[in-house]
Amino acid sequence: MKKEFKELLQSKGRTELPKVLLASAECAPLSKTGGLADVVGTLPKSLAKLGIDARVITPYHRCIKEKYSDRTEHLFEFYVNLGWRRQYCGIEYLELNGVKIYLVDNEFYFGDRIYKGGYEEGEQYAFFSKAVLDALPNLGFCPDILHCNDWHTAMIPMLAKTVYGGMQGSLRFLLTIHNIAYQGKFGFDYVQDLLGIDSKYYTPEFMELQGCANFLKAGCVFADRINTVSPNYAEEIKTAYFGEGLEGILSARSAELSGIINGIDLAVYNPHSDPLIPARYDKGHLQRKELCKLALQERIGLEKRPDAPLFVMVTRMTEQKGFDLIERMLDELMLYNDMQFMLLGTGDRRYEDFMRLAEKRYPGRLCAYIGYSEELSHLVYAGGDFYLMPSRFEPCGLSQMIAMRYGTLPIVRETGGLRDSVKPYNRYTGEGTGFSFANFNAHEMKDAVLLALDCYRSPEVMRSLRRQAMEADFGFDGSACEYARLYIWML
Ligand code: ADP
Ligand code: GLC
Repeated sequence: MKKEFKELLQSKGRTELPKVLLASAECAPLSKTGGLADVVGTLPKSLAKLGIDARVITPYHRCIKEKYSDRTEHLFEFYVNLGWRRQYCGIEYLELNGVKIYLVDNEFYFGDRIYKGGYEEGEQYAFFSKAVLDALPNLGFCPDILHCNDWHTAMIPMLAKTVYGGMQGSLRFLLTIHNIAYQGKFGFDYVQDLLGIDSKYYTPEFMELQGCANFLKAGCVFADRINTVSPNYAEEIKTAYFGEGLEGILSARSAELSGIINGIDLAVYNPHSDPLIPARYDKGHLQRKELCKLALQERIGLEKRPDAPLFVMVTRMTEQKGFDLIERMLDELMLYNDMQFMLLGTGDRRYEDFMRLAEKRYPGRLCAYIGYSEELSHLVYAGGDFYLMPSRFEPCGLSQMIAMRYGTLPIVRETGGLRDSVKPYNRYTGEGTGFSFANFNAHEMKDAVLLALDCYRSPEVMRSLRRQAMEADFGFDGSACEYARLYIWML
């Protein structure tokens, strides 16, 4: 055990490292729609290296059942009382890449959609939250920390401390906010009907916000500690622009709020050993990256031109990701004749349609691959020259880190974790791992793209920037150490 942890534990009168149970709606590689899954899948592996037993509890979504059912073991079952409903709940167990995972089974709630949307989603995750608390005494694993993630599990601390009548004992609750824009807002009657919460908690002091019962707010009030996924975002969410109505409670609890930047799984995202790309490379063999570019161009129907700068994106298509700037600027950028653009993403219909139409305007130069593909995403990260991420806000962002690891230079807006992870190119010193712009403004984005194009004309500058990006350390081990410190601190 690290000396630092030993001393910290001593100050708490403890000798053993804390045990942790992570509760999350998604967990890679089992289920994934975005970065939350990556983090919950990777953190336990890095914690294990520090000697911390961290396990995961997550819904047994149909996509998991289809792939892993022959490897899971049925542990036990019971019924969850959800208001007047009594719902079956099975607990299955799976060990994957050394991580111990408990799967909450109910086919009605966890069918083909990880998020059912609308009101149904409230019932889906109210069920999950109660199932976690009901299962806890029988798991045969007694955590010190219950680590909740985002609004889907943010009700757990409140339920434990109220409806379950203080069942928590010495259990401590950590809430990690991955994205404050999603809060789980429902009518109070609906939530009361599901969870049996006393109406005295439906006040601005507890879970009411703007006339709704707000799951994430309840988490911010009742969790013992709160953190978010980058130091910069931890500051931002205390302001009205980013806080989405929760800035008040977060400012009031700022002593218990911290920011820990995420990392990526270096074993999964490694251009030197990635089985999903046609040519493997490292910073010393960057000419092989060009083979990935040609393979990508061929696969998605772009002109096979090694000299054409290829801009890529792999993303959820939401307002958060800066699609308004892309809508405004795409045609101006495509005026640069040799420029190519490839998007792999899915999300809001409006942005999907915009990109589909753009594809028709620029045959052979622009590809909009609307869909989700883990496999193709690796080729996109490897084959691109520049990775565009002009986010309106970005709690942490993993895509820019993955891009840098593959020597694909990110062009980002200076917000949240993007500011914490991308070092903008300095044309005087040559330092940098990407490009950035400050304001959410289409012309500022264009200037950053033009600077990138300028660099593209100098192979030497590109090589040096790519190397610097690939040398940056985005592993999870540093973040895991910070989580370990936080867990011990919470005991
Ligand atoms: P967010 O969690 O806000 O979506 P992140 O940058 O933290 O953004 O993480 C996004 C993760 O999801 C990355 O691993 C990215 O490669 C992946 N991803 C997003 N959209 C797609 C897609 N359409 N196909 C494959 N992977 C995707
Ligand atoms: C959220 C955020 C993203 C972050 C991810 C993992 O989905 O939008 O910025 O990287 O969670 O924490």
